[in-house]
Amino acid sequence: MDSAEAFRFINSLFLQKTKKGLNQCEQDVILGIWEGKKYEEISEEKHRDTQYVKETGSKLFKKIRETLDIEVTKANFKPTIEQLWQEQQSVEPASCLSVEQASCLSVEQESCLSISHKQLITNPFLPLTGIVDDPELFFDRQPETREIFALFNSGSSVALIGERAIGKSSLLKAICREATTQLSSPRQPIYLNLQELENEDEFYTALCEEVGIPKCRGYPLKRELKQQRLLLAIDEVEKMTWDGFTREVRAQLRGLAEGTNAPLRLILAARDPLDSLFQDSHNLGMTSPLAGICHQVDLGSWEEATIRAFIASRLQFPRLKPLPQPVRFTEEEILHLIAASGGHPQKLMKLCYQSYQRQR
Ligand SMILES: Nc1ncnc2c1ncn2[C@@H]1O[C@H](COP(=O)(O)OP(=O)(O)O)[C@@H](O)[C@H]1O
Ligand SMILES: [Mg+2]
Repeated sequence: MDSAEAFRFINSLFLQKTKKGLNQCEQDVILGIWEGKKYEEISEEKHRDTQYVKETGSKLFKKIRETLDIEVTKANFKPTIEQLWQEQQSVEPASCLSVEQASCLSVEQESCLSISHKQLITNPFLPLTGIVDDPELFFDRQPETREIFALFNSGSSVALIGERAIGKSSLLKAICREATTQLSSPRQPIYLNLQELENEDEFYTALCEEVGIPKCRGYPLKRELKQQRLLLAIDEVEKMTWDGFTREVRAQLRGLAEGTNAPLRLILAARDPLDSLFQDSHNLGMTSPLAGICHQVDLGSWEEATIRAFIASRLQFPRLKPLPQPVRFTEEEILHLIAASGGHPQKLMKLCYQSYQRQR
């Protein structure tokens, strides 16, 4: 894999996930680092300010970690991306596409690279990273789902808290899918990922677009939403601690979500509890607006019984390409997978993926 292929691969992952590709400076950084160059060399070659290139580099790695869930640093960048590329090669029909072909795809075609309903797959332990938005690939989380709908139906909003890659985004999507059948009084589900929005202005634009009302905020928004009943799932809420977001947006969300029959019922996903995220409110001697109305549900690792059920169901996955000899995991292997993953869904997925590849 050369530097241009590596860039096209990473860019296609961003396009799939956010519908936005990388910019020119990010491209220069990827190409340069891939070719073993220092930031100083990249900036000299591309006639860019060294400090700016360095900042772009560190922001880019953070973006890859947070948006694509790939644990990269400058040091492990090349082997990590190469390994991921090889893993993705085994997913069909993407495996039939060269990097050149993949790079020529439109955004719509790119999104087909993620597993669609009808494709047969050669390894059932997928996806390895990112949100699981294919219902067939989403596993379990029934206790949390029941708890969340019980809270919604009793008039509460929810803060879904859990470490990176534990499955928060995937569960938010599942909650939105199930809203039509599980809510005691109907609400239109809306999913917004703050990672894709720069500031609160974009947040209000996206919200109004999803609801289908003219763009507004403050009192006009309250008036527009009066007749609406929405279930608003906001992912990556930590972004609200960034500069582009003020306390007012959280206060407005609270105002719209207070009360059993309020226009909004909220579910917010974050890595840290809301009252520790939004310290500004403490400084002012007030409670955080959102923490006050959201009941915290902690999303943890899977228990042994769930891990076993997950492995068994994936080994019998209906869209699995038939093999002359079906793959089985021995009891010893399963015990190793349980211990090594600690029940963390993404770690388990990766370990199972590797075991399956070895045996195939
Ligand atoms: N319920 C689930 N079913 C299947 N895989 C899961 C599930 N939850 C998490 N995973 C695995 O973890 C990865 C990260 O999930 P994600 O929902 O993006 O986590 P988070 O939003 O907490 O960072 C997924 O790509 C998948 O490999
Ligand atoms: Mg997430």
